[in-house]
Amino acid sequence: MASPLPLSADPDPSFAELIAGRPHLSADPASGLMVEEIPLARIAAAVGTPTWVYSAGALRRRARALTGALGGAGLTASVHYAVKANTSLAVLRVLADEGLGADVVSEGELLAARAAGIPGSAIVFSGVGKTEREMRLALAEDILQINIESAEEAEALSALAAGMGRTARVALRVNPDVDARTHAKITTGKSENKFGVAIDEAPALYARLAAMPGLKPVGVAVHIGSQITTGMAAYRAAYARVAELVTALRAQGLPVERIDCGGGLGIPYRDEPAPTPEALAGAIKGTLHNLGLPVMLEPGRWIAGPPGLLLASVVIQKRGASSRFLVLDAAMNDLVRPAMYDAWHGILPVGATALQAPLSPADVVGPVCETGDTFTRGRDLPDLPAGSLVALLDAGAYGAAMSSTYNMRPLAAEVMVDGARFAVVRDRQDHAALLAGQRLPDWIGNAAG
Ligand code: LLP
Repeated sequence: MASPLPLSADPDPSFAELIAGRPHLSADPASGLMVEEIPLARIAAAVGTPTWVYSAGALRRRARALTGALGGAGLTASVHYAVKANTSLAVLRVLADEGLGADVVSEGELLAARAAGIPGSAIVFSGVGKTEREMRLALAEDILQINIESAEEAEALSALAAGMGRTARVALRVNPDVDARTHAKITTGKSENKFGVAIDEAPALYARLAAMPGLKPVGVAVHIGSQITTGMAAYRAAYARVAELVTALRAQGLPVERIDCGGGLGIPYRDEPAPTPEALAGAIKGTLHNLGLPVMLEPGRWIAGPPGLLLASVVIQKRGASSRFLVLDAAMNDLVRPAMYDAWHGILPVGATALQAPLSPADVVGPVCETGDTFTRGRDLPDLPAGSLVALLDAGAYGAAMSSTYNMRPLAAEVMVDGARFAVVRDRQDHAALLAGQRLPDWIGNAAG
């Protein structure tokens, strides 16, 4: 497996640089690290740690930046936020209020989008393995579009739709065999990946879709990977192949109403070159504009990543044989990205004094019984005795959404900040919830009667 792209050899960004790059963060000389107008220490005192903290202002700003860039390029475009990145109803509602639709990949995500007030008419269903039950729900909700990833899936959906007397609007997800040059675990547009249908097979399958009962092909979808930071070349290559395909479909007299351009726009976790929404809009315009079709986008990380952080406490500061360890009360079960993708996340002390104190290298780890439960190694951080607070940055996307209860650790609370207000938007899970639903059959441990 390919390793992640090497980080630059430059020193890590300073605390001041990390804060300056994230407009919802600031360092107050008295109150320490703030999200909008709320000191993180206040949230920790009220809610405890670990806690996910989201900035409503940052979510709104980013949603507007994206829609603004698409509109500014003269594109007719709709944005369908990829719910998988962050499934909090509060996050979904903030984005729905900005006019965003949803891209969902499961029954649970579809129900979450609906519960947050996103109408079926703004929901796209993606994913390589939709169950019959999920397809039935999508049909019953009469959602905007179902992205088909195989001939087998098209047949199953056609039978269900015809049986229910519905017509499913479907887009054909193609695999353009383009390397997005991102981490191997999150690249999706190469021919060996499980996603989509080979672009060479697309014209024949699209024609079959048009003839299947209960299906109405409305377009072509493509998504080549996530955390794309290597410029627009891969996007352009994929969209150019889609444009050729659409031209060929039209030449066959097949209807194409729109193009789903996927997600994947990367963010600078450390100092990666940040592709802008304007650059993406330019790549779409340059490759697809001549077709004169509306486009859809399915971004997750770009919208939800930077606005969120994971607030944690130091449980113990331990001197190891060769390193200083900061053992947090957050762990890989909360934020799995470092363990899973070797991901780099900014880490800031929260206390006003700690933000100014001298630095020395530390390994920041969780309490889970795996060496992989390591957030970072050799990071320059101040002395942080037990009880100190830290913030793991850019954790709004694929943070809480990927967390688990490994080691019987309850899911962390989630908080939304909006200006001078904050609210718990998801309670910390209690231990009773971890035991709930478990059963002991009467034939276990009951030998003596
Ligand atoms: N559309 C489809 C079909 C997708 O599979 C994905 C992400 C998206 C849109 C949204 O991609 P985004 O804009 O967020 O890059 N857990 C990994 C990321 C997995 C992405 C999966 N698919 C991580 O933490 O880096």
